[in-house]
Amino acid sequence: MLDNPFILEPFKSKEFFCDREQETEEIIRNIVNGRNTTLISPRRLGKTGLIFRIFEEIKNRNLPYETIYADISDTLSVEDFIRVLSNAVVAKLKNHQRITAFFRALRGIRPLLGLDPITGAPQVSFTFADDNQKLSTLNDVMGYMEAYPQKIVFAIDEFQQIREYDGVDMEAVLRKHIQHLHNVRFIYCGSKKHTMTDMFTNAKKPFYESTSFCYLTKLPVPVYAAFIREKFESAGKSIDSESIEFILQWTKVHTYYTQRLCNEVFAVTGNKVDRDDINKSIQTILDSERERFREIRRLITKAQWKMLCAISAEDNVRQITSSTFLSKYGISSGPTALRNIKALIDKELVLSNSDEDGTSYSVYNVFLSRYLAMGE
Ligand SMILES: Nc1ncnc2c1ncn2[C@@H]1O[C@H](COP(=O)(O)OP(=O)(O)OP(=O)(O)O)[C@@H](O)[C@H]1O
Ligand SMILES: [Mg+2]
Repeated sequence: MLDNPFILEPFKSKEFFCDREQETEEIIRNIVNGRNTTLISPRRLGKTGLIFRIFEEIKNRNLPYETIYADISDTLSVEDFIRVLSNAVVAKLKNHQRITAFFRALRGIRPLLGLDPITGAPQVSFTFADDNQKLSTLNDVMGYMEAYPQKIVFAIDEFQQIREYDGVDMEAVLRKHIQHLHNVRFIYCGSKKHTMTDMFTNAKKPFYESTSFCYLTKLPVPVYAAFIREKFESAGKSIDSESIEFILQWTKVHTYYTQRLCNEVFAVTGNKVDRDDINKSIQTILDSERERFREIRRLITKAQWKMLCAISAEDNVRQITSSTFLSKYGISSGPTALRNIKALIDKELVLSNSDEDGTSYSVYNVFLSRYLAMGE
């Protein structure tokens, strides 16, 4: 039995990762030329996967960098930030002697090393006497990386989270520490485009113009189609072009949703994919998500739900306050539409996308949008 080639985790190996060659090259070029990168895309499109793809490529090419990854999505304070950063460093160091050397670099504080009860990964914990000690420890962590015998690529995932820390201008604090580092190249990764862009392009903000931008978009359809075909066929399952086209159209080429549907279709198919396999797979997925969608419905107002249904029915809405749109879906007024759309964007249920033609809105979760459009 072959493993299912449509992975649902961010990265396994190049073999199971579709494309992103250009982005990989671009970011590696930034690294070797001493530039930091800001990597932005909507959720579930493949940022985290791309980071690990880049790390793998750095290793394959024997480039002289240590790679470190920290996901700060669960952090709420400077203290959390230091802990997650330290854990990321410790996870790389592995051996005891090097960890002891790292701890020695953190002056005036005694970190404790334990094991995560669930994952078994090493966990550092700190007890800080006051805010000054936190800032000096942060300084020491950065100092340790600066003095590290090898150059470091440090990817900080969900970077926009630093704006949620109470009582501290974390951007200013970090910028102050980071701008003097020569030994570390950063990849700042985030899905909240508005916040991320403001951090790095607003002249009044500490990180202004300090990085090179990489906007991740959907995979090109022909490239993804060829990947899907190859994965089915090398497992002895044939699939025709219409089926692939149908899958990509149904999932709107949004990576996670495409992988999930292909994973399901692969699981139910014998040696030839037919339309029935795809329909059954769609049904299985929507069935498994139904309870979660009902939960969403309970958590938002009736008017917001109505707006979500309207956007699903249209697929992609540009004229959110036009009288045609409002009257078609019984929305009382333009201001009501704007208020509801804002609430839905804040809850990450709707994605707003701005381009040269203006702003358009779509339902963020592709499965939810299909479920709603089917009028369930
Ligand atoms: N290039 C790719 N080839 C195949 N599958 C991919 C690729 N990129 C992403 N995926 C799939 O999409 C899923 C989402 O990717 P990933 O977690 O990297 O997205 P993300 O942009 O970091 O999302 P989030 O903002 O929610 O953290 C992965 O779990 C994987 O299944
Ligand atoms: Mg991610």
